[in-house]
Amino acid sequence: MSRLMRWLVLIGLAVLVIALVAACSTGPAKTNKLEMFSWWTAGGEADGLNAMYEIYKKQYPGVEIINATVAGGAGTNAKAVLSTRLTGGDPPDSFQLHAGLEVEKYDPEKYLQPLDSLYASEGWDKVFPKDLLTLLKYKDHYWGVPVNIHRANVLWYNKKVFEDNKLTPPATWDDFFKVAEALKAKGIVPLVIGTKEGWEAGHTFETILISTLGADGYRGLWTGKVQWTDPKVTQALETFKKIMTYANTDYSALTWDGAAQYLVDGKGAMHIMGDWTDGWFTSKKYTGYGWAPVPGTQGVFDALSDSFAAAKNPKNQENLTNWLKVAGSKAGQEAFNPKKGSICARTDCDPKLFNAYLQSAMMDWSKDAIVPSVAHGAAAVEKWATVYKDILNTFATKGDVAAAQKDLQKACVDNGVCK
Ligand code: GAL
Repeated sequence: MSRLMRWLVLIGLAVLVIALVAACSTGPAKTNKLEMFSWWTAGGEADGLNAMYEIYKKQYPGVEIINATVAGGAGTNAKAVLSTRLTGGDPPDSFQLHAGLEVEKYDPEKYLQPLDSLYASEGWDKVFPKDLLTLLKYKDHYWGVPVNIHRANVLWYNKKVFEDNKLTPPATWDDFFKVAEALKAKGIVPLVIGTKEGWEAGHTFETILISTLGADGYRGLWTGKVQWTDPKVTQALETFKKIMTYANTDYSALTWDGAAQYLVDGKGAMHIMGDWTDGWFTSKKYTGYGWAPVPGTQGVFDALSDSFAAAKNPKNQENLTNWLKVAGSKAGQEAFNPKKGSICARTDCDPKLFNAYLQSAMMDWSKDAIVPSVAHGAAAVEKWATVYKDILNTFATKGDVAAAQKDLQKACVDNGVCK
């Protein structure tokens, strides 16, 4: 071997040894991943999440994002999978969690990280609205970083169908039934609904409860101030039963977005759903929709908020903390919400980035009475919300008012809220 070759071999060996020592001193190789778990797979939802991922990737280019999703609106399937992963010691780093009592389901003191110090260092207690901060606190701690505020009590309608038939969107249930009769006579499905995933009937019904009970009365149902035996609950059940007689007959086979497709196709006139529908319409490049509060709910904002939580003992703590910082940031929320069809949880986002519907939602949020959604984790603990949703899902098909009302009261008693 020539002298030069010998030197080269020696240098090569030295480099190898240095590399090995460096690898051993940092312990097992870092994965440099971030696993984020949600149920956002539909158009608009997935687009919004991707937009936020883009911001994260720009700031932390070396990190691989694992986008773990379990499809099913309102987290129907995702929540069960998440519970199993948390209790089984295989948590995703971060996951979707509704602000409000839903967190109780995941035994936060055992499985989640309290985020109070991050709230303080990021100044979040100053940029999130008071009402939302109150909703987010459970057992004196913050467990999730809110990314948005959604409205549940929206009546979406096909503008052309209304114009062609010289109709105006109904402001009361009496108006609704007049409009529905006129549309039915023209062979157009007056109300589109999909109940396939088991939560949509409960969603629709909470908005009807708001219309018969008002904001205070509706809130009282979840605190025990109003009993479920109240005649206004009977009235709401009767209204729900009647509106179902104007619904598409394939409702039990459709998801919320499947039902919304009726509007896009001009075959259906109205749809009661949350404002993720705005994001979904936008993702379909459909612009022929109008919106109004669900009849009888003017001045009330039926609210929910998606947040991201942090698992205890995550695989990637640093990446997770950085993700939460992006989720709570102005840049993250301005990228996410216009696509998602929600307004920022922060109060300092630029309204000009949002479409006309979302700008109207911002206005309403600032002046309406805010009530918590039960179908989306805000108003009640998950086990009560689940029973509530099951009762309404059965009711949508069976229509037994007395039986449903009795079961609703029992659910409240079983949860220790009603007597
Ligand atoms: C809600 C969630 C929304 C949207 C909707 C339909 O529970 O908060 O962000 O995803 O379900 O899936």
